[in-house]
Amino acid sequence: MPLVDTKKMFKMAYKNGYAVGAFNVNNMEMTQGIMEAIVEEKAPLILQISRGAREYAGMSYLMAIINVAVKENPDIPICVHLDHGDTFELCKQCVDEGFTSVMIDASKKPFEENVAITKKVVEYAHKHNVVVEAEIGQLGGIEEHVVGVSMEDIAKHLTDPDQATDFVKQSGCDSLAVAIGTSHGAYKFKSEPKLAFDVIEKISKKLPGYPLVMHGSSSVLKEFKDLINKYGGKMPDAMGVPEDAISKAVKMAVCKVNIDTDLRMALTAKIRQVFAEKPAEFDPRKYLGPGRDAIRDMVKHKLRVLNCNGKAAECL
Ligand code: G3H
Ligand code: 13P
Ligand code: ZN
Repeated sequence: MPLVDTKKMFKMAYKNGYAVGAFNVNNMEMTQGIMEAIVEEKAPLILQISRGAREYAGMSYLMAIINVAVKENPDIPICVHLDHGDTFELCKQCVDEGFTSVMIDASKKPFEENVAITKKVVEYAHKHNVVVEAEIGQLGGIEEHVVGVSMEDIAKHLTDPDQATDFVKQSGCDSLAVAIGTSHGAYKFKSEPKLAFDVIEKISKKLPGYPLVMHGSSSVLKEFKDLINKYGGKMPDAMGVPEDAISKAVKMAVCKVNIDTDLRMALTAKIRQVFAEKPAEFDPRKYLGPGRDAIRDMVKHKLRVLNCNGKAAECL
């Protein structure tokens, strides 16, 4: 089957208490590792591409890799999504290139401006049967092209449920990323993790059935953090979102869970391990291969946390 948008996935996810994993991809090995897990677990999938991924790999290479995944797996619903699009022009370009979902992230702009730019993207995307995710409130953390608020300020920038409701009604976006206390990257909390589940609950009362998106959802798995630190890396203070918090959110209105850091850490941990244990190794297949396997196993585990294993068929 060709690429799909997220409408059916989110409808089923909301109804049946799970979320679809949205995994960031930058190259072939990451995509293959994710695909192996998805096929083994029979789960629906969102592959997401950031501005940084586009610049790193080149869009035609990435799209070609994804098209192979789609062609080889007709029983799996796969959506290609632009992660954190920051301008109308970038979103338009992705719609024109065949993405089935785009995110316009104007969350740093004042409310009225965020509504206006989101509405403009929605009008263009919907004309081409592409769905739109938008964001209100702000996350913390810094990635290459996504700069959030400082750790100290996260609590001040949580999504306001009334504003979120007005935003959805005014902009017409198909799903909404909400700030509930998470950040991008590997350093999400300095002490006990706390998420604002009341924000999700309040929005879902005001907008019944409406799909919410959780960004910054990596768990920073101990296994990979320990390997990285053991084999010459330096991430002692890394801390992610506890998996029981993710499981709780997906039973509520959260239908899409974004994961990038856990993929990066799995790949990095295995490469570091090979380099440390076999210093004479110089065949990229011998370290990228174990990295790809680690991504597969990690994603398989995640799909169960998200409760979307076995749900591919009902999302077709
Ligand atoms: O939310 C941001 C994603 O983790 C993508 O990060 O811009 O470094 O590719 P990136
Ligand atoms: P993590 O950094 O927690 O993996 O979040 C990724 C993300 O939200 C991409 O949009
Ligand atoms: Zn994000």
